[in-house]
Amino acid sequence: MTHILAISGSLRKASFNTGLMRAAEQEAPDGVSLTGMTLHGIPLYDGDEEAANGLPEAVNAFKDAIKRTDGLLLVTPEYNNGVPGVFKNAIDWASRGPNVFGGKPVAIIGASPGGFGTILGQNHWLPVIRTLGMRPWLEGRLMVSRAGDQFDAEGNLTDESTRERLSEFVAGFAAFAGP
Ligand code: FNR
Repeated sequence: MTHILAISGSLRKASFNTGLMRAAEQEAPDGVSLTGMTLHGIPLYDGDEEAANGLPEAVNAFKDAIKRTDGLLLVTPEYNNGVPGVFKNAIDWASRGPNVFGGKPVAIIGASPGGFGTILGQNHWLPVIRTLGMRPWLEGRLMVSRAGDQFDAEGNLTDESTRERLSEFVAGFAAFAGP
């Protein structure tokens, strides 16, 4: 069994990206378990807090989940043509202490209501995952644009052709991340 941990970088209840993550869970092929998570409960990085008390419990739990998984799927919104602060903050916390990122397979997808479907936000992750020494899967690309037409009001993916592209993406990444 190949284990993939998907992380949505949005805290919004009806988030397109969390909806895309849920759809990825549903599209996991046989032999793959894909578990999604959001970043609720991860505090803002504070070096004084780290020096005084070490990593917060929520960060340690996040790091354990990263350590255990065979591959990480980043489901990223795009904010101001870059990575959302909420998402970067969580990865920054997780990069402290013992290294859980080195050599870890990683892939990036994302959804936005605009016409470019997070292409710049996805690119913005690349120097981060290089710095962390991760192993990016770059053979597939999934930028979900015009998300308002592809998800319902609760953020559930309703567009079948996007679901098919997602399904192919997940299968390709899982094959890369698996043994
Ligand atoms: C955005 N949004 C946005 N979209 C985009 O395609 N490119 C961008 O640069 C930005 N910039 C941006 C900045 C900020 C601060 C916000 C709050 C939003 C719109 C964004 O894609 C939209 O709010 C999505 O719905 C966010 O993803 P979730 O929450 O639906 O997953």
